[in-house]
Amino acid sequence: MAKKIIITIDGWSSCGKSTLAKQLAKKLGYAYIDSGAMYRAITLYFLRNHIDWTDEKEVAEALDHIHLHFEHNENSKQSEIFLNEENVEYVIRDLVIAEKVSEVASIAAVRTCAVAQQQKMGKKKGIVMDGRDIGTTVFPNAELKIFMTADIATRVERRFKEMYEKNPNITVEEVKDNLEMRDYIDSHREVSPLRKADDAILLDNTHISMEEQLDFALGLVKQLKEKAGV
Ligand code: DC
Repeated sequence: MAKKIIITIDGWSSCGKSTLAKQLAKKLGYAYIDSGAMYRAITLYFLRNHIDWTDEKEVAEALDHIHLHFEHNENSKQSEIFLNEENVEYVIRDLVIAEKVSEVASIAAVRTCAVAQQQKMGKKKGIVMDGRDIGTTVFPNAELKIFMTADIATRVERRFKEMYEKNPNITVEEVKDNLEMRDYIDSHREVSPLRKADDAILLDNTHISMEEQLDFALGLVKQLKEKAGV
């Protein structure tokens, strides 16, 4: 594809958004940005620094001290997030962060700060970004928008396997409760709640493999190219 586009992937927690986004970015030679990592890193900073996030002034001051950027790691072959020059890609995946991130991500000032950075990253296009509001708020004019979903049982199973490897004490109930809580807060918050953009294409991957979902998405890119000549 000669002309680069913006691809947004939104959807419920743990339905494989980042897997598809990474694969697509690799195939197309695009940058991949995990917007959820930004909210997780902000949550990590708030927790470490005992920020009272119900206090607007404290939040504003804290945000002034947070610098986030992504760097490509040659070993892991993925882009990893840095919080004030510290690689926090792995620590932000802990359940402690997952338990608080939706609350932090529902704060208007936090979203304004993250969205502005995300929009900057998409200036040159050639980007695949996944999250909850990418097709609705961050890039409402993106050329291709995908909204992903999967059965709750399938999502719990996938997330449990992932988390169990790092923490064998975790239970299926804990994972299920956390997913349901995040889905509820993410879709009911006042500022840019999770919802499918009207022009997003729905992808339910409950019964399809990773290869099939990649083929499906690449098919959409191809169709777009043929239709719009991009
Ligand atoms: O994609 P993830 O599970 O790492 O995202 C963590 C949380 O961040 C998620 O529960 C909601 C929030 N989030 C958001 O509000 N908007 C985004 N664009 C991405 C994530």
